[in-house]
Amino acid sequence: MHNVSSANSKYYCRFVLLLGVFFSGLSISEQAGQQTFSSDLGDNLMLYRRYIMDTKGAHLKSIRFIIKNNIFVEHLPMHAEMLMQVTKDMRDIFPAGSTSKKSRAKNNIWNQQGNITQDFVHKLDDLYTQSNRFRELSTTKNFEGIKKQAEVLTKSCKACHYLYRGIRLERSEKDY
Ligand code: HEC
Repeated sequence: MHNVSSANSKYYCRFVLLLGVFFSGLSISEQAGQQTFSSDLGDNLMLYRRYIMDTKGAHLKSIRFIIKNNIFVEHLPMHAEMLMQVTKDMRDIFPAGSTSKKSRAKNNIWNQQGNITQDFVHKLDDLYTQSNRFRELSTTKNFEGIKKQAEVLTKSCKACHYLYRGIRLERSEKDY
């Protein structure tokens, strides 16, 4: 009896400690967020959008590398899951008219009213769907299917880039 309650109180203390860490972390990151976004949303948006896109690039590269070299196959579902997660909120980083010299985004992403076009949204949704399909396949032993679906994924990226991404930009090392 005594043992159980002391174990309980130990867990309680840990819980309170964790709560404290959680909330202090939250307020610090909120402050940091406000500072950053009030300074210059324009350039920061372009940079952040590229970082987000680079994560997509890294996961797709990883998927293709794993398949080609037949290593860490058990990581495939994780990469698919990350692609899904990073695609889910992608609309947020394309606010109306957010083109710039520092961005490859083309202005046909938005219509004349300034809304993101249905086709662009459809292409984002397609990437989500294909990543989900890849994740399902990657938990099976259907290697031919997995390989084919990796190609479908790649095509899904290219279909959007072909229409909505402009010429390559010079990158500054300072950006990373
Ligand atoms: C719905 C459209 C869309 C889809 C789908 C999409 N992208 Fe992009 N991607 C863009 C746009 C637009 C840009 C340019 C963003 C900018 O520069 O502001 C971009 C930029 C990038 C960049 C940065 C390139 C550079 O030189 O700056 C990478 C890397 C990238 N995408 C990889 C991918 C990968 C990998 C996928 C698929 C897993 C993918 N993208 C799917 C629209 C898309």
